[in-house]
Amino acid sequence: MKLLIHSCDQVVTVIRDDDNRSVLTGPFMRNIQVLEQDIAIAVDEDGTVPSTADARVRWNDSEFEDVIDAKGKCVLPGFVDAHTHPVWAGDRVHEFAMKLAGATYLEIHEAGGGIHFTVDKTVKTSQEDLYQSLKDRLTKMLNAGTTTVECKTGYGLEMDAELKLLEVLQRAKRELPIEISITFCGAHAVPRNKTAEEATKDIVKQQIPRLRNLMVKQMINIENIDVFCEKGIFDTEQSKRILEAGRDIGLRINFHGDELNPIEETRMGAEIGATAISHLEEVSEQGIEDMAAAAVVAVLLPTTAYIMKLNPPPTRQLIEQAVPVALGSDFNPNAYCFDMATVMNLACIILGMSMQEALVAATLNAAASLGRGKTHGAIQKGRIGDFVIINTNRWEHIIYQMSSHHHLIDYVVKKGKVV
Ligand code: NIG
Ligand code: FE
Repeated sequence: MKLLIHSCDQVVTVIRDDDNRSVLTGPFMRNIQVLEQDIAIAVDEDGTVPSTADARVRWNDSEFEDVIDAKGKCVLPGFVDAHTHPVWAGDRVHEFAMKLAGATYLEIHEAGGGIHFTVDKTVKTSQEDLYQSLKDRLTKMLNAGTTTVECKTGYGLEMDAELKLLEVLQRAKRELPIEISITFCGAHAVPRNKTAEEATKDIVKQQIPRLRNLMVKQMINIENIDVFCEKGIFDTEQSKRILEAGRDIGLRINFHGDELNPIEETRMGAEIGATAISHLEEVSEQGIEDMAAAAVVAVLLPTTAYIMKLNPPPTRQLIEQAVPVALGSDFNPNAYCFDMATVMNLACIILGMSMQEALVAATLNAAASLGRGKTHGAIQKGRIGDFVIINTNRWEHIIYQMSSHHHLIDYVVKKGKVV
């Protein structure tokens, strides 16, 4: 077998072995399983966990390629980052100063900065340079405990540039140990030379059929379709057409909604079968009901609320009304955060989540937002062997010790392999 981790002080399995839930909601988000004292976990050749983590199970070290003595340490499921924008060139450090001086995100965007600034830089950058910076970012995420990450395009906008970003992501998927779920976000902003209506038609009639061909030929593996559905960007009706066109070629619907202005796109998302909606700072009571009824995962991004000084999303209401809540870093040039430990800390402080809820949101529920709720995000028989091993005797330190993951994380394990 591949890997044995033994003598762990704590193993946070998140869900129990007799429970095959693929997402946790409401009070279940607080009721996670933590096994204590001298626990062992194994990983099979195929990268999955063959049996329940248990103090009573005694393995023979010689049967394993790799053995970790985890005395004094805790094992957590590998973190799943449900929302990132990692392929771009340049940075926006100058805009940080503008925001501190009071400029809003949409003001900067309308003045040609924001996403457009990054698109200009990205379009001019070679595929190789984009790959090298992506590799560096994903390696930082992996070292910070993220074993699965959602990665969006969206700094190309036009087809050729978007294809360049997709190829960069596809190469990362082939070559790097971190697991990637690719999202096409060609509708991240309206190109300068088009109206939103023209851009919508281009995406629906030209871009998505082109992607379909590449997917059929297995040249590219895209899983999700995204749109920045926002007042002044793509409206609800345009977003719906783009998302449905993506759904019709087999992509999961996973989009930006209710971030800056409430435009009631959650109803639309629920109606067309969205798997997840991100942001939701401005979601209404009706929107929460719609998401709960359709079990749409709410991907919350506390870094954005923090950096842009937005009202935080109504997290307690979302959880109390049984909407599945997940977390993402939203890594992008506006929210420069690589690590889910910081995201969980912010989720506790800014969103009012408990540490148990934050962990569920950063593991199992984030996996669910990427269609991996049955296979990832928990330490359980049959699931993938993705772990974070920290050098303290209580797991909560990963959230409590602010931005200390460098000192705390001893090992990151992907599919039973130390990475
Ligand atoms: O999720 N809201 C749209 N997209 C990103 C920001 C991207 C950018 O500013 O470059 C977000 O916050
Ligand atoms: Fe985003």
